[in-house]
Amino acid sequence: MGRELPAAQASELRAPRHVGIIMDGNGRWAKRRGGIRTQGHLEGLAAAKRVVKAASDMGIQYLTLYVFSTENWKRAVSEVGFIMGLVRQYLRAEMDFCRGNRIRVRHAGDSSGLPADIAGDIASTVRDTESFDGMQVILALNYGGRDEIARAVRRLAAKGAKMEALGEADIASCLDNPDVPDPDLIIRSAGEYRTSNFLLWEGAYAELFVSPKLWPDWTGADLAEAIAEYRNRERRFGSVAGE
Ligand code: FPP
Repeated sequence: MGRELPAAQASELRAPRHVGIIMDGNGRWAKRRGGIRTQGHLEGLAAAKRVVKAASDMGIQYLTLYVFSTENWKRAVSEVGFIMGLVRQYLRAEMDFCRGNRIRVRHAGDSSGLPADIAGDIASTVRDTESFDGMQVILALNYGGRDEIARAVRRLAAKGAKMEALGEADIASCLDNPDVPDPDLIIRSAGEYRTSNFLLWEGAYAELFVSPKLWPDWTGADLAEAIAEYRNRERRFGSVAGE
C-alpha cells in the first residue's frame, strides 16, 4: 500500500503552479476557413487573452506563453511584422487588465534581437507591473531553449565563473527568470507531439498535454481540461511509485 502524502505535498501535486503553453495552429485555423495566416494570429491573440484571464481566475501562479521563437524569424517578413504588431498591441492595450487583475508581466528570450520599440515596450511593461502580486505572465518572445542555455553560460563566463566546476544550479541561476519555478505542465495545441525548443532546461520534468484543438479555438474550458488531466498524473521525478 502506498504511503499517504503529507497534505502540502499532495495539494502541490494537484494544482500546477506554473503552466507553459505552446500556442500552435494559428495558420491551419485560418487556412481551414479559406483565410490568410495573419487572421489566425489575430484570433490567436484573442484566445491568449481568454486563457490568461481563465488562468488568473483559476489561481495559476505562473503562465508562460510561447509567442515567438528564435526560429520564427524564418517566416515571411510580412508574417513576422504582423506578429510583432500584435505583441505591440497586446502590451499597450492590456495594462488596465494587468492592473485590475494584479498581473505581473515578464519576458523570457533575447531582447537584444527584438525590434527596439518592442524591446522598449516589454521593458516598460515589465517595470510597470513589477510590484503586482497576482499571476505572473511570462512572454517567451525571441525565445529558444538552447539559446537561453547558451546565454546563461555566457553570463557565467562574463562573471568569471570557473567553467570546470560548473553545476546545474549555476546554470539555473543564470537563466532568464531564475526565480520562476519550473513548469509543472506544458500544453501544446494543434496536435503536434514535440516541444520545439520551449523551456528545455526548466521543463525537464514537466507533464505534457497535447490537444488536437487549434489555438484560436482555445477557451478557459480547454485550460481547465488540461489541468484536470494533470491532476490525475503521477509525478515521480525519476523515483519509484509510492516511495
Ligand atoms: C503558432 O501557430 C503561432 C505563433 C508562432 C504565433 C503566436 C502568436 C500569437 C498567438 C499572438 C500573440 C500573442 C500574444 C500573447 C502577444 P502557427 O503559425 O505555427 O500555426 P500553423 O502550425 O498552423 O501554421
